[in-house]
Amino acid sequence: MKKALLALLVAFSAALPLFAQENLAPTPPMGWNSWNIFQTNINEPLLKSMVDAYVTSGMKDAGYTYFVLDDGWMGMERDANGQLIADPKKFPNGMKAFADYVHSRGLKFGIYNCAGTKTCAGYPGTRGHEYEDARLYASWGVDYLKFDWCYAEGENAKEAYKTMSVALKASGRPIVFSLCEWGSNRPWLWAKDDGQLWRSTGDIGPYFAESQSKNGWKPLSVLNILDRQDSIRQYAGPGHWNDPDMLEVGNGMTYNEDKSHFSLWCMLAAPLMSGNNLHTMSPQTTGILTNKDAIAIDQDPLGMECFKYKMSADSVETLVRPLANGDLAVCFLNRMDKPQSISFDWAANAINDATSKTNVDFAQSTYKLHDLWSKKDIGTTKKPLKQTIAAHDVVMLRLIRQ
Ligand code: GLA
Repeated sequence: MKKALLALLVAFSAALPLFAQENLAPTPPMGWNSWNIFQTNINEPLLKSMVDAYVTSGMKDAGYTYFVLDDGWMGMERDANGQLIADPKKFPNGMKAFADYVHSRGLKFGIYNCAGTKTCAGYPGTRGHEYEDARLYASWGVDYLKFDWCYAEGENAKEAYKTMSVALKASGRPIVFSLCEWGSNRPWLWAKDDGQLWRSTGDIGPYFAESQSKNGWKPLSVLNILDRQDSIRQYAGPGHWNDPDMLEVGNGMTYNEDKSHFSLWCMLAAPLMSGNNLHTMSPQTTGILTNKDAIAIDQDPLGMECFKYKMSADSVETLVRPLANGDLAVCFLNRMDKPQSISFDWAANAINDATSKTNVDFAQSTYKLHDLWSKKDIGTTKKPLKQTIAAHDVVMLRLIRQ
């Protein structure tokens, strides 16, 4: 009897770290990441100014929590003991001091490495050092690890990410694990118990429709990425999210394009990792990134991604996202680079979604329409919605059950 009790206790305590990891991302993580705007040109004073701006700009109050250093934070070699070190020129006070600074402002601290022998920018990768790196991150107070997939020739993605996931769990500190293998090995099929988010596509660039090459390489545009999400929506949910990559809001697209990009990521229940210069962002950019009603759609506790309801011949796409309290988010997206008018007769458009078991017949039930960008109530589903949508813009609504 005693033996059985002991065995039970041992099994229970071994499982404890696993339990601790479970609730790390009940809704999609929100934060800021250094890559999209600074690439490897990061250093302590610059990043401290981002941490300060994160708080003073209202980003923290809007729900953003993680401050993530992407590639380029390390020295070019591990030290004599095989440990990773922060680049001493960029971070003269070391990484623990920087993590302490992030925590002192009430934020959580994230860092980047790679499953391969090197990171994508050529710094030391984690392959063969999983447990020591996880222990080091825990000792620095890391709360989030983005784990990339460069220089991983011959590795099995499923095994490589499992190893790092187990190493993080064994570190004793709850650390959000962000898998970044670009959807190459369909992580939505196997990564649910390994991490909280997985990239579903290649890298985003600051382009809305047509992407442009830079340095001989072509990133994906917002629409390129959107078009690759529909078939995997059933794999995301509380605790494990499809990640269509970080935000490019404030990095060069037009205001309407930024607004659409943000709206679409909220419809997709995407992790909201802003990637702009927080210190110099315009009031328009701040207004987009801190729109509380749009963020509430992203963070809806049901965790159900949107689906494509309709694509009309004139390229206005209608997306629908079922919400926890029975409300719906509906987004009309003008994919064209000229304005287009819509007339949407709710009564003639029932919503039936098998994945979320949502069935709404607007001829039977009425919803109030709240426009998330004009912040106005604009009528009900009793009358057709008539609007002109500017080029690359959206009309994004919350439908509130009457
Ligand atoms: C890959 C990732 C990017 C970024 C860079 C850093 O391309 O997908 O998000 O982390 O590496 O080198």
